[in-house]
Amino acid sequence: MAADPEDLKHFAGLLKAGSGFVLTRETVHLVEGRLAPLARREGYGTVDALLAALRKGADARLKDAAVGAMASTETFFFRDLAVFERLRDHVLPALAQARPGGRVRAWSAGCATGQEAWSLAIAGEEAAANGAKLSLEVTGTDLSRACLEKAEAGLYTQFEVQRGLPARLLVRWFDKVDEMWRVSSRLRGDVRFRRVNLVEDFAGPQRFDLILCRNVLDGFDAETRATVLRRLAGRLADDGVLVLGAGESPRELGQTFAALPNARGVFVKLSAARKAA
Ligand SMILES: C[S@@+](CC[C@H](N)C(=O)[O-])C[C@H]1O[C@@H](n2cnc3c(N)ncnc32)[C@H](O)[C@@H]1O
Repeated sequence: MAADPEDLKHFAGLLKAGSGFVLTRETVHLVEGRLAPLARREGYGTVDALLAALRKGADARLKDAAVGAMASTETFFFRDLAVFERLRDHVLPALAQARPGGRVRAWSAGCATGQEAWSLAIAGEEAAANGAKLSLEVTGTDLSRACLEKAEAGLYTQFEVQRGLPARLLVRWFDKVDEMWRVSSRLRGDVRFRRVNLVEDFAGPQRFDLILCRNVLDGFDAETRATVLRRLAGRLADDGVLVLGAGESPRELGQTFAALPNARGVFVKLSAARKAA
């Protein structure tokens, strides 16, 4: 790749504003590999030509596609299994017990192709089968429209279901369709997907009891991370639970959260009253 430095600088600005992803000396090499399929599909031939077109003023759709293509969408079912076991056995039953009708609202923010949202829904169904009076609603959101389409279709290859999904759960919650596996209609009732860009203002009236935002914020700079974490905290119930990736913490928010012991990446929100006590 021999991109014009000005084209690259312009794209770095688009990327930071559009998704929070910061292009650094360590990540710049990703541009070629991640944009090449888009450049080919759109008839530009090379990534350099695509970058030049973006600087000349491409339409919003192409900008969106280029920004979306730069995100890592790596995911798999029950990623960090211990977290899902903790949610199933303790967090979801406790949240349900504290809510009328056991209704718990969960948000998988940055859900990629949906495996995290479906894993959460399965954990909820399992918790209910184990005796919790729980009615779990899961919302999965992502920046990438292509990811959301796949998430919503709920259709996965053999390779994808083998990554993390125990055979017992595969048979229980998926139907075989030709060479693929489709999420069962029962599970579909628990989950919906929509597009939310976490670097845009996503304030709203609805609060969630549980938010998973795992392996999403690591590409952001410190300021953007702090802003997104603050907004996520604002959308979480006062006794809600935040789950980040295994090595991540909401340290920017000081005393707003307390880590659950023996559960990497799981944090309980401390309401103002509890903090003052
Ligand atoms: C590495 S995947 C993680 C998926 C899942 N949370 C997991 O841990 O397996 C990161 C996802 O975050 C999404 N993402 C990145 N920046 C985003 C933003 N600004 N708003 C919403 N989603 C974003 C990407 O599109 C990608 O699907």
